[in-house]
Amino acid sequence: MPASRDFEEMWRDLAPVGRSASSGGYYRQPWASAETELRAWFVEQCAARGLTVETDGIGNQVAWWGDGEGPGVLTGSHLDSVLDGGAYDGPLGVVSALAALDALRDRGVTPARPIGIGVFVEEEGSRFGRACLGSRLVTGATTWDQAKELTDRDGVFLADAIAGAGLDPSAGLLSLDRVGTFVELHVEQGRDLVDRDVAVGLASEIWPHGRWRFDFAGQANHAGTTRMEDRHDPMLTYAMTALAANKQARLAGQRATFGRLAVEPNGTNAVPSLVTAWLDARASSDDALASLVAEVQRQADDRAGRDGTSLVVTPESVSGSVVFDADLAARLAALGGWPVIPTQAGHDAGILSAAGISTAMVFVRNPTGISHSPDEHAGTADCLAGVEALADVLAELAGS
Ligand code: GLV
Ligand code: MN
Ligand code: MN
Ligand code: MN
Repeated sequence: MPASRDFEEMWRDLAPVGRSASSGGYYRQPWASAETELRAWFVEQCAARGLTVETDGIGNQVAWWGDGEGPGVLTGSHLDSVLDGGAYDGPLGVVSALAALDALRDRGVTPARPIGIGVFVEEEGSRFGRACLGSRLVTGATTWDQAKELTDRDGVFLADAIAGAGLDPSAGLLSLDRVGTFVELHVEQGRDLVDRDVAVGLASEIWPHGRWRFDFAGQANHAGTTRMEDRHDPMLTYAMTALAANKQARLAGQRATFGRLAVEPNGTNAVPSLVTAWLDARASSDDALASLVAEVQRQADDRAGRDGTSLVVTPESVSGSVVFDADLAARLAALGGWPVIPTQAGHDAGILSAAGISTAMVFVRNPTGISHSPDEHAGTADCLAGVEALADVLAELAGS
């Protein structure tokens, strides 16, 4: 069966899983039903190709093709999504990995080194707040003792969520001992490839980025009878902080977003007692990121002083600068004349690179440039170009 037909069939299989009828976006929360269904789908796809999947105690998966000598080449991505996310962020890398394996077989390639296809859990950190939790646990960047205290929005502990998906964390984590090189294919999440008018690119680096929880506390009070000058309104402190963060990031050519908010008691006719807001900040260097967050916090503290509110800031899920193996990127770029571009989005590839594994990323053009949204897109011809590019990369790295 030609790899292109396999790709389109797999894509059709995945289309309904976790899709919202109203928005057309995807809710594939880790260890919930849609993501569990996708884990089973991955096992089936691998079995159809004669590959056996190893699923670790938290749901990371890998299947190896070939038992050649030497360190293997791992490719893959993730199957979870952000809340109301697009179809491509994550699954494109997994489907393309399977289709690239088909393409290599069609080409009659017998790899000298094993090729693995992997799926990492909770890449988005959309449920437990820690980006790339699966790969962080596997590489030791986060320990189980740190992770097991995490709870989701409903107060469910991580271990209970994992057990609820039929997994057992005490069964251990994937070993990366066989992984010499990791290659993650991903939909591009910006407009760089569109601007360059090319379908495929490679990654040079990932900007440092992270999440900080801002707890603004004030005094709950009546919305009608409380004079404006008598209020201690944490929503006001938050709103001024969001404006300050936006201005600061614009001035410095960086990124700052408050995309998640929790308000107590969350009533229309009450000044809130507590506003919790999560800052997602990204910058071109570790120092620039630290300065951006420090400046946002300074302005928030200043505003809290004027509003008679108080602020506690807690870092969550911070990732330092990642520069991918430049020699590897240059060697792979020569295969297809692909541009090598930076990204501001986090990936499991960044975590594996930070753990010392030689790592590369292949990006596929996204005509909308939109991601983490139902409007994320990639055209079929570009996806198939991505599969061929990935097959070329794997053939180069695994030898034949
Ligand atoms: C992952 O997509 C991220 O938030 O960077
Ligand atoms: Mn994402
Ligand atoms: Mn992703
Ligand atoms: Mn006052």
